[in-house]
Amino acid sequence: METRKSFNSGRAVVIGGSIAGLLAGRVLINYFDYEEIYMSMLEGTPWLLAHKSMLQVNKPFKVSLYGNDYVLWKDDLGNINALPNACPHMGAMLSEGWCEARADKTSVVVCPFHALEFDGEGCTVLPGSKKKTLPQLEPLELIIQGDFIWSYGNHEPKQSIPNILNEIGAEYEFVGHTADTSVETDLLSMLLNMHDYNHQNGTHRPMFQIQEVNFHKFIDNGYHSHTFYDMPTKVVSLKEKISNPTLFFVPKVIKAHLENYFPSLVIFHGNVDIGKFAQVHIFIPESLTRTRTYALLFGLSKNPIFNLMKNSFLDSVKTVVEQDSDILRKIYPNTPQKIRLNNEVGMDWVRRNFENYPQIVEPNLSKLSHESPQPPLISYGVHTSSYPSYISSLCP
Ligand code: FES
Ligand SMILES: [Fe+2]
Repeated sequence: METRKSFNSGRAVVIGGSIAGLLAGRVLINYFDYEEIYMSMLEGTPWLLAHKSMLQVNKPFKVSLYGNDYVLWKDDLGNINALPNACPHMGAMLSEGWCEARADKTSVVVCPFHALEFDGEGCTVLPGSKKKTLPQLEPLELIIQGDFIWSYGNHEPKQSIPNILNEIGAEYEFVGHTADTSVETDLLSMLLNMHDYNHQNGTHRPMFQIQEVNFHKFIDNGYHSHTFYDMPTKVVSLKEKISNPTLFFVPKVIKAHLENYFPSLVIFHGNVDIGKFAQVHIFIPESLTRTRTYALLFGLSKNPIFNLMKNSFLDSVKTVVEQDSDILRKIYPNTPQKIRLNNEVGMDWVRRNFENYPQIVEPNLSKLSHESPQPPLISYGVHTSSYPSYISSLCP
């Protein structure tokens, strides 16, 4: 039976050609295919587990990746350690314990249950013995680039680490991290939300008083892409500005330039009168059904007020992430998408890359304008995908 793939609300369906004909276009969902494609965590990707500033010295910090929990800790020398979080004695969470510093300024993590100490290699010293054991835990491999803590989750790398954060770190001042949030959603749903250019005036409307989104350009370079759009904002009263000080710096038109690194980063490059900033959104598949996101903010001041506003900017970013997380919790994930809006090219880009990972395939989705009278018929690599005809009929 011939099969072809189509996309519904971020979910894959397989349409059996002949059966679809018999059922006059009714869409059949093959749940095995759904599992295979959409319940993927894109193993082989480098994920940014944390910025060093997120770890306090000698304080355990829990992270999750691919369904496994780990404990990270930073010692006095700035070294980062990472071990599986389950104590090999009786399974207590090491992240609930504490750290002990050693004379050489390295440190160990101490289990909260029976106080066994583990060094960064996973070795311990048993009570009554003065001898270090062999490693009892396999450390999580980390790649540290300056303040950035990356990991492939001990999987074989399929993608190199993007250099963009090193470039931003060299050019900008680090403002801070915010909004470390674990959302009950799969990785794909999170990515679709973050590459959906139509949700600004819905999900984020209360924050910036955005009225509409005028899409300009999408530049597709495989796993790297740029998006440009403008967002006119509502004129707000002084009272509204006082209750939300960020509005003092929101221009009449927000000119957005997003730089996307599939699948782990989205960078919002922003310019305001008093400076410019790079707002980096990070995504990490904690498990098949939980995805973590947080943001790092970098700024370049043109005016002393910019420095005074740093906390306010961070608060705004936090609110943005909370709004995204909130809507992700309020979506029925299996709803068939009967309507396609303009400017869903970012989501097309996510789906194309997600489905074919780690291969980069045609079509190239670069476009100069959003003026598309019909949703495009898109061929994704070896598969042929199309939007069902009822979708076309509902589109302008
Ligand atoms: S469970 Fe960790 S020391 Fe016993
Ligand atoms: Fe958003």
